[in-house]
Amino acid sequence: MAEFTLPKNSKIKGGQKHPSPQPGGTMRNFKVYRYDPDSGENPRYDTFEVNLDECGPMVLDALIKIKSEQDSSLTFRRSCREGICGSCSMNIDGRNGLACTTAIEDVKGEIKITPLPAMDVIKDLVPDFTHFYAQYASITPWLQTVTPPPAGKERLQSPEERAKLDGLYECILCACCSTSCPSYWWNSDKFLGPAILLQAYRWLADSRDEMTGERLDALEDPFRLYRCHTIMNCANTCPKGLSPAKAIAEIKKMEVERLV
Ligand code: SF4
Ligand code: SF4
Ligand code: FES
Repeated sequence: MAEFTLPKNSKIKGGQKHPSPQPGGTMRNFKVYRYDPDSGENPRYDTFEVNLDECGPMVLDALIKIKSEQDSSLTFRRSCREGICGSCSMNIDGRNGLACTTAIEDVKGEIKITPLPAMDVIKDLVPDFTHFYAQYASITPWLQTVTPPPAGKERLQSPEERAKLDGLYECILCACCSTSCPSYWWNSDKFLGPAILLQAYRWLADSRDEMTGERLDALEDPFRLYRCHTIMNCANTCPKGLSPAKAIAEIKKMEVERLV
């Protein structure tokens, strides 16, 4: 059986050790942030020993296995298991990402898992998205028009107009980018952050939308838009390969061009 020890450099006391119920295979330790506000106790890290020979290849597989076999109280979000729903976003080994698309073999040594940074935690790996979703609602993320649609037809786009939404519509609102952005850490009360600004640009770039001026008016603010200092963490973090920083630059360009 592989030796099961807490890391020598662990500074957090009181974490629980959970040996694998299937000893004798290829073992990895998963050091997982635990917090239950109802308990009145401080957060801690628990370490779970997982037999990788009996586990699927992704970090989410290991979390599901831990919950099924070692500690049913471990709490995390997940749904699609395909990188589509955005619910399993968390910080894995110091990097924000989706647990369902992060391969265990791509993370070396002990795997440390914490909730997305700089968000309130509801329980264990579940952050509170209330403010993030309120910011999303604030950009009115739906098609808005004033002219009636052509009789008996949809509002059509040319292939070129539709192509302008590529790199935007794929966003799954996982918040990996916003919670890796230092400007968002310090000013999330007023700065919309990269995810919501990418979504805002998705509607500005839509040829069918007729509220461009109103949308730009709502973003023209020292905090909502201009707290982005092009640090680029967002583009480096996005698990879907999108570039919120580029979308933000496009919004700033539109704000300038309408003044000319
Ligand atoms: S480019 Fe802007 S939004 Fe992206 S991480 Fe940097 S400051 Fe944040
Ligand atoms: S831009 Fe990428 S990282 Fe940000 S919310 Fe959308 S999918 Fe997630
Ligand atoms: S479970 Fe849906 S993105 Fe990971």
